[in-house]
Amino acid sequence: MGIQVSDFGKTADGTTAKIVTVVNERGMGMEVTDFGAALVAVTVTDKNNALADVVLGYEDVMDYIRNTGFYLGATIGRNGNRIGGACVTINGQDYPMDDNENGNNLHSGFEGFDRKIWDMEILEDELTVKFHYHSPDGEQGLPGNFDVTVAYTLTNENEIRIHYTGTSDADTIANMTNHSYFNLAGHAYGSIAEHILWLDADAYTPVDEKLIPTGELRTVQGTPFDFRTPKKMGLDIDADDEQLKLASGYDHNYVLNHQDGQVRKVAEVSEPVTGRVMEVYTDCVGVQFYAGNFMNSTLIGKGGAAYQRRGGFCLETQYYPDANHHNHFPTSILKAGQLYDTTTIYKFTVR
Ligand code: GLA
Repeated sequence: MGIQVSDFGKTADGTTAKIVTVVNERGMGMEVTDFGAALVAVTVTDKNNALADVVLGYEDVMDYIRNTGFYLGATIGRNGNRIGGACVTINGQDYPMDDNENGNNLHSGFEGFDRKIWDMEILEDELTVKFHYHSPDGEQGLPGNFDVTVAYTLTNENEIRIHYTGTSDADTIANMTNHSYFNLAGHAYGSIAEHILWLDADAYTPVDEKLIPTGELRTVQGTPFDFRTPKKMGLDIDADDEQLKLASGYDHNYVLNHQDGQVRKVAEVSEPVTGRVMEVYTDCVGVQFYAGNFMNSTLIGKGGAAYQRRGGFCLETQYYPDANHHNHFPTSILKAGQLYDTTTIYKFTVR
């Protein structure tokens, strides 16, 4: 049990990035880096007590810098997911952002929080690593000095708790998420198709051909998107469905059934061979289920692992994408002086 800090390589300007290894009293491990405040590894036992690393990641900070577009494990901010037309409107004023995907903004553009070195504070007794970043007024095109903290805690109940807090001195957008790709059979295992998913959502937000929500909240009933009864991720992923074709598989925001601001269980994934189970808890209103459709084996991760297409899945807790352009979506605007405060927990068990 304890926390250890090591070097994680140098960034282009010569800054040494750090990697922090946290181990709890049950022997579960978590590794995080100050580059992108990213989750690098999660080592957890299976039903036969064998340890494996179930989060996709890289060996060195330079690989995180080189591989733009995959966001492995990263903290995404100020805004996770897409913004149509790469422009938001706040208090009647337009704020253009980077167009980094087909005329739209994805994950806050070319210089998101995933590309920054964060300040780091270690709370040894609480098995917590706290990252802080000051985003100056106008960064990413957005108004307000936004001060944000992401605290990762590894509990002795085998949970990874991610707690985001932030404040801004002007109204701005705050919609942070974590972009970890999991594979409960081990990060280098291969396809996630046999993983079984339960998702507490009766509806999802369908998208247009550029993956921007149309504004509709569509029932999952009778569609491949229904995970209210646990189902293999791969069962319907290539079904003849317009929405699956647009995104080459699942890459959609689910409208969570409970939206009262309480941290609740919203998803569970189990992997039949190893018996590993991951539960997801959050107080967010939405979760993007991304099945890793755009990955390909040129993506080389830890230990030389080639991360194939659909070799990991993401459950990114968040506001609905493009919330700024749909008045009936819960707003992602953070008012000046108000506290942004949200928690997501990934909990590991075996069955
Ligand atoms: C998100 C998006 C995906 C993809 C990944 C990164 O999850 O929804 O479409 O862009 O990020 O590759």
